[in-house]
Amino acid sequence: MIELKNVSKKYRNGTHALHDVSLKVNDGEFIYIMGPTGSGKSTLIKLLDGEEVPTSGSVLVSGINVGRLKKSKVYLYRRKIGVVFQDYRLLPEKTVFENVAYALEILDMPDEKIRKRVREVLKLVDLADKSNAKPHELSGGQQQRTAIARAIAKKPTILIADEPTGNLDPDMTNEMIKLLEKINREEKTTLVVVTHNDVMVENHPKRTIRIEAGHIVTDRTPEPKKEETAVEQTEVEEEPVVLETAVATVEEEAYSEGEVS
Ligand SMILES: Nc1ncnc2c1ncn2[C@@H]1O[C@H](COP(=O)(O)OP(=O)(O)OP(=O)(O)O)[C@@H](O)[C@H]1O
Ligand SMILES: [Mg+2]
Repeated sequence: MIELKNVSKKYRNGTHALHDVSLKVNDGEFIYIMGPTGSGKSTLIKLLDGEEVPTSGSVLVSGINVGRLKKSKVYLYRRKIGVVFQDYRLLPEKTVFENVAYALEILDMPDEKIRKRVREVLKLVDLADKSNAKPHELSGGQQQRTAIARAIAKKPTILIADEPTGNLDPDMTNEMIKLLEKINREEKTTLVVVTHNDVMVENHPKRTIRIEAGHIVTDRTPEPKKEETAVEQTEVEEEPVVLETAVATVEEEAYSEGEVS
């Protein structure tokens, strides 16, 4: 679980980037963080991955007080956290396979295990056929998927993505979000996705936290679709016929207002 308790962050130059932010994210959740430029989204991410420490309050991830970690222990903590940066940060001289493998080599994993896991994640992100390509031979979307494969290879409990669809066209955006949903579902990874993309959030509604000027202004969770509830029941009862009827009666999902701080 991620838990921020009354977190404030003031940078050395006096900028007050976050004010008294409290937030809980359960294991396996998929949330969006939205908000205007300069509102504190990346600061929040930096507090989560231990790049920055809170000025006051506490940041707890899986029971670890991240802001209190010794500098020499942060790298160990980061093994639990996968971060996908908007500018990919791939190693240009290495192939797709080597870029992903590198993330595991630094964990001292045995070679055979590394090869197995790399093949597995490249399949998951649909890049098995690009294993031997170098980053410059890939499209933007493929580079982005390589960055995601690299971030999830070590099976982090949390995957954080800062603007994962920033440079993608609408079709690729849709593919990207479906990939993130698949990771959330199949690898049971908690997803924290920073985005400005209203269309994506509308098409794939999830709990959405909105930050403005360092404050959480809304925290909304969409009501579950009738379709999803019906599909779950169908799976349990193993009666696929019910599914067709249920899909025909899908309703628009409504938002319910959650905690506001
Ligand atoms: N290292 C830093 N030192 C001083 N001020 C900083 C630092 N990093 C960010 N800030 C300031 O903190 C505030 C929040 O910045 P942050 O990067 O968290 O915004 P953001 O919501 O991620 O914006 P964007 O959507 O543009 O990425 C801004 O006023 C920014 O200028
Ligand atoms: Mg940012």
